[in-house]
Amino acid sequence: MLEVDLVATVADVSIRPSGPTRAWTYGGRIPGPLLKLTRGDRLIVHFTNQLPEETTIHWHGLRIPAAMDGVPVHSQPGVKPGETFTYDFMVPDAGLFWYHPHVNSAAQEGFGLYGALLVEDTPEVEAGDPLVLVLSDLALDDNGQLASPASGGDLGTLFGREGDDVLVNGRKDPVLRARAGRRQRWRVVNAAKSRYFWVAIAGHRFTRIGGDGGLLTRPVEEDRILLAPGERADVSFVPMGAPGSELDVQWVAYDHGYGSAFNRPPVRMMRIALEPGAQETPVALPVGLGRSIPALADEPAAAGAKTIDLRLTQNNQGTKFAMGINGVPFGDDKPLLATIGETQIWNVSTDLDFAHPFHLHGFFFQVLETNGEPNAVREWKDTANVPQKGSMKLIVRFDERPGMWMFHCHILDHADAGMMGMVHLSP
Ligand code: C2O
Ligand code: CU
Repeated sequence: MLEVDLVATVADVSIRPSGPTRAWTYGGRIPGPLLKLTRGDRLIVHFTNQLPEETTIHWHGLRIPAAMDGVPVHSQPGVKPGETFTYDFMVPDAGLFWYHPHVNSAAQEGFGLYGALLVEDTPEVEAGDPLVLVLSDLALDDNGQLASPASGGDLGTLFGREGDDVLVNGRKDPVLRARAGRRQRWRVVNAAKSRYFWVAIAGHRFTRIGGDGGLLTRPVEEDRILLAPGERADVSFVPMGAPGSELDVQWVAYDHGYGSAFNRPPVRMMRIALEPGAQETPVALPVGLGRSIPALADEPAAAGAKTIDLRLTQNNQGTKFAMGINGVPFGDDKPLLATIGETQIWNVSTDLDFAHPFHLHGFFFQVLETNGEPNAVREWKDTANVPQKGSMKLIVRFDERPGMWMFHCHILDHADAGMMGMVHLSP
């Protein structure tokens, strides 16, 4: 069991050398504390809101009861300034998860409210001791203070607002010490409200062993680690180079729609300083690393599964800019319906020239196809990218946790503009 106090509070953090930034934080720092548990543990968080506005905590990716999911009204009343709320649940799955507010999310998360939650399991421990990396960015003005969350108006919303200060565990361009030849294991979460991360180290490849919901069926080799907002990756790699030299870990622009990659140079987000002394002989990953994940599509419940089309849309109302699902902004929509034990196939698409990381609360799904192509490896997901002018087809089985569950684009500017919906799961 892990029982902690957590306070959301405005605090000074150090981002730029020119002086402190007044940010919104969990526990006075960015990111908030790393919560470490073992699968099956109970987590109790005594939460206090010391922010100037209402907030909640959403536990992204965790299969917990709807009442603990942090969506105002549907899960719990919003926690008002000065008030407290106790989150209390079991963590049923191993994986890297994260937590963030679900009120005014683009602004609150963009101001610095996020943290990681690591749930470990035995086979994962065998893959090596992990380093958790929380990737994010902050939008600051010339004085190093938080920029307006409405900067750029409707266009800012459409593109998704990124901050120029790219952060790894809350710091710009930090240095990680490592030994050449000694295997590293990184567990990475993209906690930025809009920025995609495509992480590269020149001359190196990564072995991805896990995703949102724990280990893959088998490891896959990748040149770069791609993380849309909200996604996680569990990767292993061996830093190589002359002892005493440095490797650059770079953010590379990923084309996720209009103007998102054109003419954008890489950004160094972290350095790896290789220790002086002898280089080690790299050790291979354990043979057979992975786990069996049954294909939901092959289970009896999938026969005759209902298929639901969800189009992610822009749908201005008069002069008011809005985004939505099937042409309807959140608030005017009717919930989808599902019954406990039911399997559904969701065909999520967009005609817009912007990609959308689609997130479903409370349940893992399996991606069947992206732009009509089957996925390379089976894994449990809670957030998956819908490419610009493209589609992503998922399959989900609703287990026995009734309630109102949210789904939305994890570009939080899009979500707040209305690209959200609910599914009502009933017995
Ligand atoms: Cu991480 Cu509703 O979101
Ligand atoms: Cu979107």
